[in-house]
Amino acid sequence: MILPRTRLFGADAPSNKLNVALIGTWGRAMAHFKTLESENVVALCDINEKHLSEAARKWPNAKTYTDWRQCLDQKDIQAVMVCTADHTHAFVANWAMNRGHHVYCEKPLANSVEEARVVRAKYLKNRGKIATQVGTQRHSYENFNRVRELILDGAVGELQQVSAWGNRQLRRPGYLPAAGDPPSDFHWDLWLGPSPAHPYNPDYFSGGAGMNCLQWNMYWDFGTGQVGDMGSHTMDLAWNAIDAGLPKTAEARGEPYNPEVSPVMLELHFQHASNKWRPEIKVSWYQGGAMPPSPAPWVDLNKIGHGAMFEGSKGTLVAEFNARLLIPLGNAADMTYFKSRKKEDLIPPLGDFQQEWVKACKGSLKTTCDFDYGGTMIEQMMLGMVAYRVGKKLDYDGENGRVTNSPEANALLRRNYRAGWTLEG
Ligand SMILES: NC(=O)c1ccc[n+]([C@@H]2O[C@H](COP(=O)([O-])OP(=O)(O)OC[C@H]3O[C@@H](n4cnc5c(N)ncnc54)[C@H](O)[C@@H]3O)[C@@H](O)[C@H]2O)c1
Repeated sequence: MILPRTRLFGADAPSNKLNVALIGTWGRAMAHFKTLESENVVALCDINEKHLSEAARKWPNAKTYTDWRQCLDQKDIQAVMVCTADHTHAFVANWAMNRGHHVYCEKPLANSVEEARVVRAKYLKNRGKIATQVGTQRHSYENFNRVRELILDGAVGELQQVSAWGNRQLRRPGYLPAAGDPPSDFHWDLWLGPSPAHPYNPDYFSGGAGMNCLQWNMYWDFGTGQVGDMGSHTMDLAWNAIDAGLPKTAEARGEPYNPEVSPVMLELHFQHASNKWRPEIKVSWYQGGAMPPSPAPWVDLNKIGHGAMFEGSKGTLVAEFNARLLIPLGNAADMTYFKSRKKEDLIPPLGDFQQEWVKACKGSLKTTCDFDYGGTMIEQMMLGMVAYRVGKKLDYDGENGRVTNSPEANALLRRNYRAGWTLEG
């Protein structure tokens, strides 16, 4: 057969396609199908055999699995997309990196401080060899760049305080009672994976495609509620503009701790060290009705469901995912201190978020939400959850991943896994 030259050597040439394993093949995974259609999907894995066979109809040449541990051992895999439930993200990601695979992992990257540190450290060790991306695709909205430019260029003066918030409220009473046996084509035990055993109840899964996460993510053994859910996206809007590392302190306020479900109303507050362009700042997360104070009585932050606010010496920038509002405040806020960028100096658009990762796997290895950037952000958030659980302001040694003033908090930096499940494998 004679193939046109472009088919042999061009962008579509077989040698240029990435061999991808898709783990979790339905729901959120479907948002990645378009990206995957240009690549070689060589392996599919889902604990729900109905979802697996639907995906197998789309990619009939891919090998199929119900256990991701077996899937990852398939020899021709180069890259892995992780779209499973939150409590397995760090496991799949870390095992995949251990095999030298590139990884795209849906948010949240981790469910505990320890998980965040393990995947981040593994990525940093392999940074010159693999490309990683946390699935916070809103990061590609150009507003993220504009917000970053305004903050870096001093539109609010000297940055002092940053807040992000979300108003999604999913109240759950507690773990669900046993309700029948799981269907024979649904592997409940594999879904539980590393989490403690719970009886099956179909109501953990009554959401739609890409919405099931809202059914199970409030339960501590499966997710971290809005902290890991919209918190991953909305804190990203703030994180992208502050060049922060790990916090020095963490404290929290919220509704009383429930050992079964994570809180609806919650505030997390962190103190971050200065860096080369800004002083020490306070970074906060608010959810479930808790909100930062408004910068002026005529600004109703409640109108923004998921937003971020940057307060500085000369004013405030309020942003949602797609737009921003600059409010110079006080007599000194004459804007003479701010020079807007020339068009050619703007941060270039990221383009398609998933494609950024695919291109990185094929060469540059550079992505904007790699496991260093995203891992540091989620470690901060998970530390906040520990502060919430112990009800105390925590001093944190980010270099060593230790709380220095609470042994009780240190014990909560990690989760307890079921026998036979290990983060390293
Ligand atoms: N980036 C975004 O905007 C966005 C949007 C929605 C969901 N998400 C994230 O995507 C993930 C999946 O969410 P969802 O609503 O699609 O959930 P879901 O419960 O529908 O699960 C998705 C698929 O993964 C399969 N699965 C679950 N655990 C598995 C395992 N251990 N091994 C193999 N397959 C497994 C399920 O059977 C299902 O087919 C969540 O972590 C969620 O936070 C991200």
